[in-house]
Amino acid sequence: MKYNIAVVGATGAVGREMLRTLAERNFPADKVYALASTRSVGREVSYGDDAVLKVEALESFDFSNAHIALFSAGGDTSKAYADKAGQAGCIVIDNSSAFRMEDDVPLIVPEVNAEATDGCLVKNGGRNIIANPNCSTAQLVVALKPLHDEYGVKRVICSTYQATSGAGQAGMDELFNQTKGIFVNDEQTPEKFTKQIAFNVIPHIDVFMDDGFTKEEWKMRAETKKIMDESIEVIAHAVRVPVFVGHSEAVFVETEKSFEIGEVRNQMREQDGLSVIDHRANEGYVTPVEAAGEDAVFISRLRRDPSVENGMVFWCVSDNLRKGAALNSVQIAETVVERGLIG
Ligand code: A2P
Repeated sequence: MKYNIAVVGATGAVGREMLRTLAERNFPADKVYALASTRSVGREVSYGDDAVLKVEALESFDFSNAHIALFSAGGDTSKAYADKAGQAGCIVIDNSSAFRMEDDVPLIVPEVNAEATDGCLVKNGGRNIIANPNCSTAQLVVALKPLHDEYGVKRVICSTYQATSGAGQAGMDELFNQTKGIFVNDEQTPEKFTKQIAFNVIPHIDVFMDDGFTKEEWKMRAETKKIMDESIEVIAHAVRVPVFVGHSEAVFVETEKSFEIGEVRNQMREQDGLSVIDHRANEGYVTPVEAAGEDAVFISRLRRDPSVENGMVFWCVSDNLRKGAALNSVQIAETVVERGLIG
């Protein structure tokens, strides 16, 4: 069987990556609808190497024509259209944070909790909506999965180094234009980011909360608990860095059970979606530039943390537009098909 797919936000950084990923992975698509705002109607976007799609208006789209819709057009657009699509019988996979923490919306990273996808169906108490986690959470939970299965993860401390594409095409454009501008002494006016991002780092992503954490840091804690286990303690510190694509994380993990670091390395090697590249030498680790365009979550710099009883530290890098967004959404769509949730 083949399925009709709608991509909402098809002209954006993640939307274009969703179209590329669907084509690359040979998703069994019959019709593919590229949807965006009325400003973009008639524009063309690529679907794979050969096909070109004409952008249609989300506003007038009839979701009963699509089996699955991948949404990546911001939280407000999701809030306005996702339930309408779900009620029309379409299964929505939403990349925004609009529904992630709602009880009747499963939050899915297929390598970790594919079975929870079934909860999206109305007959199982859902509303035909599945949420895709925040980009920095998606790569973290794939890395934690084998550790939690084997040793029970107790506490995670995570410092992030997040690329500008996490803020969409406009974020990448701001980095590019500021970098160019600095060489010709142009004045830097931050728009998408709160301070200059070129040749700088900014310890502030999303809004501040009452306890001093930012919403981005709160998301990593709350989403990891929802996807993996409520008992895991997660503390995050999120930083925007002048990188176009690829989020990096320094991850400090404390486990219940003791481990041998060599065994941990092997268990991480066997985990679906993880790639361990860890030679203790020049070039023996992965940076965002190498991770961009790749599907894997890369683990490097794995070592024991001698400051706690069962502690380890590693470096975790992934393409935030892929595993952090488009790839994970398409993997959820594949899971929906495999688990027979359509129709
Ligand atoms: P458009 O290009 O027509 O504005 P990014 O995250 O890279 O900024 O992309 C955001 C995506 O979400 C774009 O495809 C954008 O379409 C789409 N979008 C934003 N607002 C709306 C809206 N109100 N209705 C439909 N699509 C929207």
